[in-house]
Amino acid sequence: MSAFHGVTVRVEACAKTFADGTRALEPITLDVARGETLVFLGPSGCGKTTMLRIIAGLEQADAGGRVLFNGADVTGIPIEQRNVGMVFQSYALFPNMTVAENIGYGLKIRGASRMDREARVAELVALTGIEGLERRRIDQLSGGQRQRVALARAVAVRPSMLLLDEPLTALDAALRERLRWELDRLLRMLGITTIYVTHDQSEAMALGDRVVVMSKGAIAQIGTPRDIYFAPANRFVAEFIGAANLVEARAVNGTLTLPGGQLEVDDSSATGDVVAMIRPESIRVAAPDAAKLSGHVDRVSFIGDRQRLTVSGAAKRPLLIDAPNTLDVKIGERIGLMVDPRAVRVLPEERP
Ligand SMILES: Nc1ncnc2c1ncn2[C@@H]1O[C@H](COP(=O)(O)OP(=O)(O)O)[C@@H](O)[C@H]1O
Ligand SMILES: [Mg+2]
Repeated sequence: MSAFHGVTVRVEACAKTFADGTRALEPITLDVARGETLVFLGPSGCGKTTMLRIIAGLEQADAGGRVLFNGADVTGIPIEQRNVGMVFQSYALFPNMTVAENIGYGLKIRGASRMDREARVAELVALTGIEGLERRRIDQLSGGQRQRVALARAVAVRPSMLLLDEPLTALDAALRERLRWELDRLLRMLGITTIYVTHDQSEAMALGDRVVVMSKGAIAQIGTPRDIYFAPANRFVAEFIGAANLVEARAVNGTLTLPGGQLEVDDSSATGDVVAMIRPESIRVAAPDAAKLSGHVDRVSFIGDRQRLTVSGAAKRPLLIDAPNTLDVKIGERIGLMVDPRAVRVLPEERP
């Protein structure tokens, strides 16, 4: 299949207030590069679907908001004329048609010849791994198979952009993970500009070239998965993405003083009362006398690939620590804690 690279997207000052007065989006401005996969991530109700629907042309932004494809204003153009492919959480397939008829539907209404349609359907059936199911009806398919059909149908007409709203959310965990990898491979192969909405942070990080973390209708942070994980812009992002210890400390020239000792930060300007974020896997367990920070083990939960310790006395609140699964630690034991200064992230002050 020939790769097609889709369009650039610009969202400009798009806010949304619904008729009943609900403020779903604060003014949002962002750019999506050609071929990029941009993921909107955030808790339920933060405005992800509304954003996607504005980009699709299913919803109008408040006055003043604009959407541009390849630099051209499409704000007033309806979805049928925007050439976008969409996939939703609920499959929205035609139940009375076969798999092949569903995939070929868009081509048929665009007047493609039967031969062209059949060739394209065969190509997509192979690409999405549903060979042999062409003649089945939709109600004879599993959830994962239905989502593959929905995806094949969405890309069949070679849209210039693919919009996906929680497409894997209805599936069980193991299938979700497998389809996530397949989807990632497919999006990379197609090279199509993709906007993907999810509330699942591991899905967002696995699929996104960049991730837009949203909170209450606004952008909390936009960056690569590594940016948002290692350098969260604020407390909301730190706590929403993965597990995070938020540690209150007194800083003097990059040295943090905590109840159980001291930690260094890779920022000698850090001074005053600060909140620092430390990921559980960044804390290393050492002999109590070998480290400047120590605490007592409150709890050990063995997870399999690692064990999660809860350690009190080191910081004001108990610290979560991911230790190797072979480490021998006992409840009540005093342990030393070491952290690479680069893994201690001082968060910017937040207005109350
Ligand atoms: N048609 C509508 N009328 C009124 N409020 C709406 C409508 N659609 C969504 N909302 C509200 O807008 C907010 C954002 O919704 P949505 O974009 O669906 O969030 P998400 O997809 O992140 O869960 C929510 O408070 C939701 O209840
Ligand atoms: Mg939604």
